[in-house]
Amino acid sequence: MKNYKITLIKGDGIGPEIIDEAVKVLDAVSSCCGFHFEYDEALMGGCAYDMTGDPLPQETITKSLNSDAVLFGAIGGEKWDRLPREKRPESGLLRFRKELGVYANLRPAIVYDELINASSLKPSVIKGVDLMVVRELIGGIYFGEPKGRDESKGWNTMVYTRDEIVRIAHNAFKIAMERSKRVCSIDKANVLDVSQLWRETVEEVAKEYPEVALSHMYVDNAAMQLIRDPKQFDVMLTGNIFGDILSDEASMLSGSIGLLPSASVGAKIGVYEPIHGSAPDIAGQGIANPIATISSASMMLRYELGEIEAADKIDEAIKKALKEGYRTQDLAQFDAKEVCSTSEIGSIVANYIVR
Ligand code: IPM
Ligand code: MG
Repeated sequence: MKNYKITLIKGDGIGPEIIDEAVKVLDAVSSCCGFHFEYDEALMGGCAYDMTGDPLPQETITKSLNSDAVLFGAIGGEKWDRLPREKRPESGLLRFRKELGVYANLRPAIVYDELINASSLKPSVIKGVDLMVVRELIGGIYFGEPKGRDESKGWNTMVYTRDEIVRIAHNAFKIAMERSKRVCSIDKANVLDVSQLWRETVEEVAKEYPEVALSHMYVDNAAMQLIRDPKQFDVMLTGNIFGDILSDEASMLSGSIGLLPSASVGAKIGVYEPIHGSAPDIAGQGIANPIATISSASMMLRYELGEIEAADKIDEAIKKALKEGYRTQDLAQFDAKEVCSTSEIGSIVANYIVR
């Protein structure tokens, strides 16, 4: 029987609760699809800082690199917000992405028909939305040098090399080939030199994918178009910070940020995580929505382990749970038959898989 080694990084806030539910679902799917998971936990974020003085202990990197995939909860919280930058949970996460070389962050935004009323936008605008933000994750202004601050000035640098753009563009085009063969590349080429290089480079890469229709859009317009008519988008190719912003915006099309998963992939192993944060305000209450994390586990099966049937089973089970009206509190007002706890939703999804 195939055995997959999964590193679990539960993190802070609601991280542990939602990872536990994803594990429940993974165990259900493995028992019916003929493979086995072996889990190993590793620390990152505020909890890692509290225990070791470092938000990203070396052991976490080593364990992760020695496993088949990483399933990640969420990190951060007000408790650690006043630490020096390099000790903060977010710095641990950025360093982790860099160490693992996960340069491509895939963030799908889909609108479930069952939750069509949950969005703040009109059903006619969002019905059928199914888009994918492909965000460059280990370059751009998040990492560019020089960066720093003194008493009166702060500075960061948005920098991309041609190679970095080529690499992420290939990911976007390949994904588009599996979808509806459209890529919209997002930039600010009317103002930024780095964006001009981005646009020219994406156009060069596009020549290798003659079947894919490429368009370009300035990021400010894209932010507006996402709300005006999100269905015009299929794959949105972005740099690091533009993708950070637009993927949060795109998540609200679906009604709750608690629904959307992500995959971060690169040369080595991938990291699978919900796009939401650690929500310390609701941690430990059993009310967090675990669906984004369960869905991230499905992306892990699909993109990393090639267990497509298992991934499909999870996606179907999530849809079924939503269709039957099971909701966590964030979605309680939207056609809920029953408001469930975090762990009840996990069990419902797991049971639909086994049956
Ligand atoms: C995300 C988050 C992170 C980011 C933070 C926590 C560093 O917002 O994954 O989108 O900005 O990339
Ligand atoms: Mg973000």
